Amino acid sequence: MTTTLITGIGELVTNDPAVGDGSRLGLLTDAALVIDGDAIAWVGSAVRAPTADARIHLGGRALVPGFVDSHTHLVFAGDRAGEFAARMAGSRYDGGGIAATVAATRAATDDHLRALLAARVAELRAQGTTTVEIKTGYGLTVTEELRALRLAGEVTAETTFLGAHVMPTAGSTGGERVDRQERTAGAAGSTGGPRVDAGTDRDGYLRLVTGEMLAVCAPHARWIDVFCEPASPHAFDADEARTVLEAGRAAGLGLRVHGNQLATGPGVRLAVELGAASVDHCTHLAGPDVDALAGSATVATLLPGVEFSTRSPYPDARRLLDAGVTVALATDCNPGTCYSSSMPLVIALAVREMGMTPAEALWAATAGGARALRRDDIGVLAPGRRADITVLDAPSHLHIAYRPGVPIARALEIEPGRET
Ligand code: NIG
Ligand code: FE
Repeated sequence: MTTTLITGIGELVTNDPAVGDGSRLGLLTDAALVIDGDAIAWVGSAVRAPTADARIHLGGRALVPGFVDSHTHLVFAGDRAGEFAARMAGSRYDGGGIAATVAATRAATDDHLRALLAARVAELRAQGTTTVEIKTGYGLTVTEELRALRLAGEVTAETTFLGAHVMPTAGSTGGERVDRQERTAGAAGSTGGPRVDAGTDRDGYLRLVTGEMLAVCAPHARWIDVFCEPASPHAFDADEARTVLEAGRAAGLGLRVHGNQLATGPGVRLAVELGAASVDHCTHLAGPDVDALAGSATVATLLPGVEFSTRSPYPDARRLLDAGVTVALATDCNPGTCYSSSMPLVIALAVREMGMTPAEALWAATAGGARALRRDDIGVLAPGRRADITVLDAPSHLHIAYRPGVPIARALEIEPGRET
């Protein structure tokens, strides 16, 4: 295995409080780093750096742990820019637009979806994201959810089954789907011959999601998620969400929840009660929600790109942090509520609009995301961890929020001679 010594680091954020300035970010100046294959082999002061096979000199740029985007919906086709324009003219988001993406996604070929997904993954990597979670939820039939999971699994290990995204609209499970199966059989994967799925009544769809769809999808997913939002006529109430999550857990999946996005409701407390790894959005919280999160292992993942793109009030990050809740930041990249894959934008919004310090926001976008995915191999730059590193065209991490909209962050390609 080739070892690479990285020098010329203006500032190194390790997220390891045992090193550097003693802060939660574990900041080192005059640092060097040695990478051995995919792993970090050594971190310390440049004057004590060991020799290595190759060397990269960064010329004073800062290094931070690669961003961990723990919440995206990247497998989709179609365009909902008109819905965004309507919102900017005053209409409200309630999840109804998801049906348009479901129709466009079902109509897309495997190759088209694969190309769209590859472009989105390249886009987020170019902005410093090194780990991405990807949800399904724009298929809503057995075959289409499986297809989305297989495609997501081609680009990440963090795959999430979101068959319980919304109730499919009436008439969306018939002949059009059979045609789609015939065109894709043998490509991203098919469960067999044409199938007519259960009806679109709520109970019938829940039976499908927790029955055959879950059985087919679970082997290809690490997580299960549900849009628990009684305030939306398209999403799921507390009892329905509990049914979905308990079935997912029984199938061996870890739990995640979309909760409290549109109004206060049961999502956060259900997620905590069931031991979910993360409850995401947390835009509208009541006191008991914060109390429940504070005493739990459930991460509150905030998605301020959604509030930006839906012109909604931002979540109260300060209240969560002051209560001792573990907070993560993610993009929620999707065609409806936030068509941005930019973790730097999310960090800037968290700092400017949600009262987080630059250090808190960076930690939440890296180590916080790792906790939301229950991963201890990422989010921290220390010996033995993955060498998932983001380089900034700037001298310190403060510039991520200080220079909003400027493309200063990118995933570090560990190829000697590439960085100068
Ligand atoms: O996380 N809230 C539910 N799902 C997505 C939006 C999906 C869409 O509108 O296409 C979200 O915001
Ligand atoms: Fe989402």
